[in-house]
Amino acid sequence: MNLTLKVWRQKNANDKGSFATYNVKDISEDMSFLEMFDVLNEELISKGDDPIAFDHDCREGICGMCSMYINGRAHGPMQGTTTCQLHMRKFKDGETIVVEPWRASSFPVIKDLVVDRAAFDRIIASGGFVSVNTGNAKDANNIPVNKDDADAAFAAAACIGCGACVAACKNSSAMLFVSAKVSQLALLPQGQIERTQRVLNMVKQMDEEGFGSCTVIGACEAECPKEISLENISTLNREYMMANLKNP
Ligand code: SF4
Ligand code: FES
Repeated sequence: MNLTLKVWRQKNANDKGSFATYNVKDISEDMSFLEMFDVLNEELISKGDDPIAFDHDCREGICGMCSMYINGRAHGPMQGTTTCQLHMRKFKDGETIVVEPWRASSFPVIKDLVVDRAAFDRIIASGGFVSVNTGNAKDANNIPVNKDDADAAFAAAACIGCGACVAACKNSSAMLFVSAKVSQLALLPQGQIERTQRVLNMVKQMDEEGFGSCTVIGACEAECPKEISLENISTLNREYMMANLKNP
């Protein structure tokens, strides 16, 4: 495949940034989107040009690093798919592809397509954990969990912290991310000890980081590569209300 890429280039957070156009040739349709970028970067390096900075790690859809906007969609055109698992066969030969970083004030651009998502780390550090000593692995039947709760917790735990929900939301809200983390732990016995304080702290940190409010548009759910459900936001609102009643 031969493609034209319009890629956002920005030297650092203070640089204005602009699109640069590149022609890439002989791309296999079996390559992932990131592998296509690897080919382009090798070409840029061999010419002595600055390679395009982009985040990646696992390349298996589990770490949430490979975040970028592709043709106006978070993680590209495929539903429920991360950029690293997006294959070039989903594009047409000769197509022009526009690639941009996440655009949200809480995720400032570091360079090119790389944004600073430390705000998510600070939200997790404020309460997205259990501090009980879980000891050695116990027999599975020692702590019975209702099947529906186990399934819902498992689905919420699929969130990879990529930030597509924030980037897709016109308010740059982080509610889907925070709700996935709060729901997962609220549904499990291990999460009960810090349940009240967790939701209060995580929502407080989310607000302090400058993320916008949720107006239930649903763009977050539509663009989430792990198809995290909006129902988690209902759970978060319920948890937050109950926590405020207990801790007025
Ligand atoms: S809710 Fe979805 S889009 Fe948001 S951080 Fe988690 S996996 Fe990414
Ligand atoms: S590189 Fe890890 S999810 Fe894409």
